[in-house]
Amino acid sequence: GSTLGDAASRTGRYFGTAVSAGKLSDSVYTGILSREFSMITPENEMKPDATEPNQNQFSYSGADRIVNQATSQGARLRGHTLAWHQQQPGWMQGMEGAALRSAMLNHVTQVAGHYQGKIYAWDVVNEAFADGGSGARRDSNLQRTGDDWIEAAFRAARAADPGAKLCYNDYNTDDWNQAKTQAVYRMVQDFKSRGVPIDCVGFQSHFNANSPVPSNYRTTLQNFANLGVDVQITELDIEGSGTTQATNYRTVTQACLAVARCTGITVWGIRDTDSWRASGTPLLFDGNGQKKAAYTAVLDAL
Ligand code: XIL
Repeated sequence: GSTLGDAASRTGRYFGTAVSAGKLSDSVYTGILSREFSMITPENEMKPDATEPNQNQFSYSGADRIVNQATSQGARLRGHTLAWHQQQPGWMQGMEGAALRSAMLNHVTQVAGHYQGKIYAWDVVNEAFADGGSGARRDSNLQRTGDDWIEAAFRAARAADPGAKLCYNDYNTDDWNQAKTQAVYRMVQDFKSRGVPIDCVGFQSHFNANSPVPSNYRTTLQNFANLGVDVQITELDIEGSGTTQATNYRTVTQACLAVARCTGITVWGIRDTDSWRASGTPLLFDGNGQKKAAYTAVLDAL
């Protein structure tokens, strides 16, 4: 195929990007988006602060603009995200204990229910594990409601949208030898053994000099897949430029292609100037919307 989406579809996979509703009026942006990508993740518009700005008052206007774009170009949607320690609305940040637990579950039920049938996969829970060597859960108001908050969120999501794949999503879980990777692996293994509804694990894959593409990345993806879940690369960006960056993008693409249950790759933005990163050139298109060497490396690897 001559586009990322077409090339990925030849092996039954998708190729996606994060999309910001505020950029949909930019014709260069939407031109690349509709040409190249077969999956869309709202970059911020489905996060709890966006969808429930006041408790029990839901707001879907930004998200719906992206849903409409996806429909018009025939792309699917990854929902991101139902429960996270960041980008909580102010009212939620101030809650704790049983009240927070029930507010969180209500949020999951309402938002997943609102989009029932329209979402390919939901990142039900995002970034719940701590960095470093502890392998512990990240401390947060949600975690302090009890260790079972993650499985409770997954059960509520399944009840609200039985057809959506339900994912756990995190970063720094790419290196098989890291404690955080092992801790997430054990959680997924436990969920599968107890029948907690989980279908997929998302690897954000924000790579840079401090956190490069690990040499065992494919092994990590395969080991998770062997637990009986799909794996997806959900927020890919790789700092750098030129041949080095292109080689890293090729390595990541090849890793996904080598794992049967790696169902797709999503980059976290279209042009370098769309990146959430304050500086650098981590994406596949330059600021003018021109294809970079990294783009060609990915296309050729698909
Ligand atoms: C980022 C967005 O790209 C920014 O626009 C926003 O200001 C902060 O969040 N991990 C995630 C994403 O799961 O939701 C984050 O997105 C990037 C890191």
